[in-house]
Amino acid sequence: MKIILLGYMGCGKSTVAKALQEAFDSKALDLDDYIIEKEGLSISEIFAAKGEIYFRKQENKYLIELLESKKSFILALGGGTPCYANNIEFIKKEAKSFYLKGKIDTLFQRLRQENSSRPLISELNDEKLKEFIAKHLFERAPFYEQANHIISIDDKSVAAIASEIEALESV
Ligand code: S3P
Repeated sequence: MKIILLGYMGCGKSTVAKALQEAFDSKALDLDDYIIEKEGLSISEIFAAKGEIYFRKQENKYLIELLESKKSFILALGGGTPCYANNIEFIKKEAKSFYLKGKIDTLFQRLRQENSSRPLISELNDEKLKEFIAKHLFERAPFYEQANHIISIDDKSVAAIASEIEALESV
């Protein structure tokens, strides 16, 4: 069984994946962490040294590598993963996917506290950050909304989100 969690930066994909490990008796994986391990560089270092296009190519390669493996897992993607190359097609073919959908303000409040490791937003002040999230989310929503299920995350605990996913998994 392969479960994929997708959605914008800051929506809680990695934390929710960890919370689901026991219920699904599967390991939580994080595509960013997998890329970091394979490349031997942090995400910020990859963007700075090799550029975003290189990062997207590697992201596509490692996503396919994981999806074609025989393993069961709960995989938290990067925020951009479903929106590049043929990734969304692979995701739909090989896994059951959940979009963790947050409102612009929810994402903004979270990302303003933790933008330093995220190269796309690390240089933005509050005003620019909010504008960026609104535009970026609008562009990405058509990809995210192709997930099998859409879970709203605003004002919900990690445990509540995990229970919703658990209940929907068998549907
Ligand atoms: C990105 C999101 C990040 C990471 C990279 C690019 C994006 O992952 O893959 O910085 O394009 O939205 P998180 O969603 O885990 O922050």
